[in-house]
Amino acid sequence: MSRPRSTKRDLERYAGLFSSRTREMKSSAMRDMMAVTQRPEVISLAGGLPETGNFPPESFAAAAQRIADESCARALQYGPTEGLDELKACIVEVMAAEEMPVDGDDMIVTTGGQQVIDLVTKTLIDPGDVIVAEGPTYPGAVPTFSSYQAHVVHVDVDAEGMKVELLDDLLDRLEGEGRRPKFIYTVPSFQNPAGVTMSLPRRRQLVEIANRRELLVLEDNPYGLLRYEGAANPTLRSLDGGVYVMYLGTFSKILSPGIRLGWVVAPPPVLEKINLGKQAADLCSSTLSQLMVRAYFDQGIWRDYIDSLNEIHRARRDAMLDALAEFFPRQAEWTRPGGGLFVWVTLPDFIDTTDLLARALRDNVAFVPGEGAYLDGRGRSSMRLNFSGSDEDTIREGVRRIGEVVAEQVALYGTLTGEDRPPEPKRSPSAEEAPKGEDAGARVLPMRRRRAG
Ligand SMILES: Cc1ncc(COP(=O)(O)O)c(C=O)c1O
Repeated sequence: MSRPRSTKRDLERYAGLFSSRTREMKSSAMRDMMAVTQRPEVISLAGGLPETGNFPPESFAAAAQRIADESCARALQYGPTEGLDELKACIVEVMAAEEMPVDGDDMIVTTGGQQVIDLVTKTLIDPGDVIVAEGPTYPGAVPTFSSYQAHVVHVDVDAEGMKVELLDDLLDRLEGEGRRPKFIYTVPSFQNPAGVTMSLPRRRQLVEIANRRELLVLEDNPYGLLRYEGAANPTLRSLDGGVYVMYLGTFSKILSPGIRLGWVVAPPPVLEKINLGKQAADLCSSTLSQLMVRAYFDQGIWRDYIDSLNEIHRARRDAMLDALAEFFPRQAEWTRPGGGLFVWVTLPDFIDTTDLLARALRDNVAFVPGEGAYLDGRGRSSMRLNFSGSDEDTIREGVRRIGEVVAEQVALYGTLTGEDRPPEPKRSPSAEEAPKGEDAGARVLPMRRRRAG
């Protein structure tokens, strides 16, 4: 927001008119920072921006020209709420690339994946209803869950994704309190924000639990095709066949977030309610965008484009991991994603990353404080770093600046507590020891000692 926030006095004038829901509304950790991070002098490792500078302009121009020649009037017109058949055929292709056969009638095209989270929550949640989500969870889902007054219960995440083995006990406890969750929300592949990937045994177990307990799962999968290491895991949707798993897909990270198109696949009764919700929200998603995507898919290069993105992202991830090893104090730990756009860093618990951000912004560098990825106040000593939106040199400089601020805090704490003698360094794995194959999905790496000088 470029305008200053309203003052208390401004708010009082309208206070009696606001719904009780607005009291629960939260601002998204990333959106809040956009005004600051768009300043050219700021290095932003905060956003979730995929690289778009690599997209071939001639491909864009050809798609636009084809629409102008063949379907101008239609592109400028409203479309059906559930989306155009031509676009649904592209979605069928994308889902087939992750081994998910699907019928166009079982999906609704949405205005980005974000709208799916909104519509599913609107459809299933009354105030106080429980959603089970990973801890940390996608920071963009936090304001959505808050605005529908959901009660979110987090399940911790480790290097193999959500700790599904904790679920049965948690669900028993909740049911004992008369609080049966309405759905389980998960980003199983290259999770935003932690970069971790749910292992196959956990995927199977989650689907088994959902079926046994007749619980819905929302599988949010923007990053499944953004893999540059390891073998693909089957999606929850493909393991479950679509009985209890609702599936969220998006074109944002495989093509463009500006095009604002996503989709949801869900069991027909749920889909019908979602359709009603979408009619009320925006009638239909942009017809122009849908035809653009169709024209682009007809060029037959969409998979090559994703391959090119993955090459760029891999190099940037490597730059970030190297810079973290070089510039972060050795008490820090971080994940090692095999795909997607994010690294999750956990610092010693005496560091509050929300406070640290204010200090980092003075040095013109931004990240997302971990608190924004929880609804229960946790995450205060973690941060999310994005590596897809900046080139390698910028990433290195950004991490260097953050590392300096972190090191200052560590030193200050040491001085105040007298605990300034560092513990024995943890040993880093050598290249040969680094995880390979399916296991390479994500790891919490022990820290390397900071290089002298
Ligand atoms: C896990 C996850 N879900 C949903 C979204 C929403 O994306 P969009 O609305 O651009 O499709 C994002 C965007 O970063 C995301 O990371």
